[in-house]
Amino acid sequence: MSIQVDPAWWKTLFDEVYLLTDARSVCDRQITRREVDLICRLLPIQDSHKILDLCGGHGRHCLELSRRGYTACTLLDYSEKLINIARTNASKNDLKMEFICGDARQMDIPPASYEHVIIMGNSLGYVQQDGADAKIISEAFRVLRTGGWILVDVADGEAVRSSFSPNAWHEIGEGVVVCRQREIREPFICAREVVLSKSDGLIRDQSYAIRIYDAAGLSDLLEESGFTRINIHTEFSPHAADGDYGFMNNRMIAIGQK
Ligand SMILES: C[S@@+](CC[C@H](N)C(=O)[O-])C[C@H]1O[C@@H](n2cnc3c(N)ncnc32)[C@H](O)[C@@H]1O
Repeated sequence: MSIQVDPAWWKTLFDEVYLLTDARSVCDRQITRREVDLICRLLPIQDSHKILDLCGGHGRHCLELSRRGYTACTLLDYSEKLINIARTNASKNDLKMEFICGDARQMDIPPASYEHVIIMGNSLGYVQQDGADAKIISEAFRVLRTGGWILVDVADGEAVRSSFSPNAWHEIGEGVVVCRQREIREPFICAREVVLSKSDGLIRDQSYAIRIYDAAGLSDLLEESGFTRINIHTEFSPHAADGDYGFMNNRMIAIGQK
């Protein structure tokens, strides 16, 4: 049976359960450090630069950037729950940053506010209407200063297709099992995710669909919004061990300049 997806799935999925199901990628400090090493290698960031972590979830990248002395970071995400987790973490660790809960397609931010915008951890492709990702990238362009840089980190569509597996499961600690059933429905990958606690039963049964990009598609997306000097890197994978990490296995990193 084909996987049924509520088009508004992305408005509710990103909460504490997501931090469990994706913990192997998004709650592993080593992985975040490797990703931030990559950001610092690819972008000409200076201490005083303003950085927008767009669709930044629970803020792992801007928290790490702030730890490294880049203290003018802003986190924007739709999920209030993740923003609140980031806020608590920042205050516990005495790290200063700004927080905005909002939609990346229409941001309440003045033009030319940042030197860098980063979109990490496969955060594009959630809204199914054509043109939704173009709105996000155009907004990133608008809020960047002239000469500023964007960095987009998404799953490498070609690698996703070639290593596609319709079923996957993994355990989290002793008590929780995450099962995923997947389907390719171009240009989307649809997935049903069932999360079970061995002691308490069903935690979540939710489906989602994510648009996947190949290098040419991602490059066009940036170019159509006005970015130049676009470069795509496909050799990056932050996981040291083999495994099925869903969209986080094979990454495609695009940079572009305003
Ligand atoms: C897979 S998570 C990645 C989060 C973070 N970048 C990371 O790597 O940990 C995707 C995030 O994108 C956010 N997101 C997706 N579409 C968005 C939109 N239109 N506006 C704001 N946030 C959005 C979700 O709320 C979610 O927190």
